[in-house]
Amino acid sequence: MVGARPNFVKVAPIHKAFVKAGDDVEHIIVHTGQHYDEKMSDVFFRDLNMPKPVMLNVGSGSHAQQVAKIMVAFEECILEYNPDLVIVVGDVNSTIACALTAVKMGVKVAHVEAGLRSGDRSMPEEVNRVATDAICDIAFVTEPSGELHLVNEGWSEDRIHTVGNTMIDSQYDSLAAARDSSVLSDLKLQPAAYCLMTMHRPSNVDDEVQLRDMLSVIDWISEHVPVVFAAHPRTENNIQKFGLDWKPTENTTVIPAQDFVSFLSLMMNARFVVTDSGGIQEETTALGVPCYTLRTSTERPVTVDIGTNVMVNPVKADMITALQDPVNNRFKKGKVPPLWDGGAADRIVDILKREYLK
Ligand code: UD1
Repeated sequence: MVGARPNFVKVAPIHKAFVKAGDDVEHIIVHTGQHYDEKMSDVFFRDLNMPKPVMLNVGSGSHAQQVAKIMVAFEECILEYNPDLVIVVGDVNSTIACALTAVKMGVKVAHVEAGLRSGDRSMPEEVNRVATDAICDIAFVTEPSGELHLVNEGWSEDRIHTVGNTMIDSQYDSLAAARDSSVLSDLKLQPAAYCLMTMHRPSNVDDEVQLRDMLSVIDWISEHVPVVFAAHPRTENNIQKFGLDWKPTENTTVIPAQDFVSFLSLMMNARFVVTDSGGIQEETTALGVPCYTLRTSTERPVTVDIGTNVMVNPVKADMITALQDPVNNRFKKGKVPPLWDGGAADRIVDILKREYLK
């Protein structure tokens, strides 16, 4: 099951691993349509070499509408295809909607990226994580904290499999293409000479005052180093909706949501990254690029404990204090977490075939 942009990146290697493992297990990719447009969805299927999915076309809406529409559409899909197993990934609305539908129909569910917890129930993703893990059957885990949380929540260890990170598998697969990408020259950027910025968390962009502060931090960074700001549709919509008169400084380049390979190229060549994304914390750690995460908590503590990630309280004065380090070329060094080696999807398919799809 896929629905939103980060899901595509996590599922592509699993599709590839199933193909590689032979045709005794048939699999299909179903796309809920939570993300539906060219730059948030279609381009990822092309870049990541995924086949055309079965489309449920649910589109945008409130959380309740989105989850409800996905459940109704996915129920029909399960009736039609009668799967032995449903694989859900990540923490988006499509994840919980599909897991809940399948479980209620008696279909086994595996959750890839299970056990992550930010401890912040005001994040829609945290609710999706907790709810998905409470009902699914098999957990594939990316980092030590995931296993710990699941055990504390009563999971028996035989259903938990620490396999690494399929998002990093996709990164490995696309490194060569990213090295060949023309995005840096297209944007007239020099390697290691700019800050790459993204933001889209509701807590940072759905409140007008907070969004203004976030934009003023972009302006401040750009006084010190060129900024490339990849604007998510949620953020673009809200800048419009609030009628903000924000104009990027001369040292800031605003670009729309990027395809996977171009974004990977922008990340690996950045001097540092500033973000509120979940996945980018992991991708920068795997690349060894310094990352500053504008959130009060992370569900991916391994990126802070051993990776390049630094958490920054998203209050204007705190952000400016914390970002003094990277703008003055003082960076945290990190290591790549265990099993983030490009082989996670192969391990997942191997375990599924051996233990659950016999
Ligand atoms: C969703 C996920 C978030 C993930 C993010 C990655 C949930 C609760 N959140 O947040 O965890 O990090 O995706 O992007 O599932 N829109 C478009 N084109 C699209 C899709 C959306 O323009 O293809 C616009 C719509 O106006 C929509 C808004 O973006 O209302 C937000 O999309 P939505 O799926 O509700 O949440 P995201 O903020 O993208």
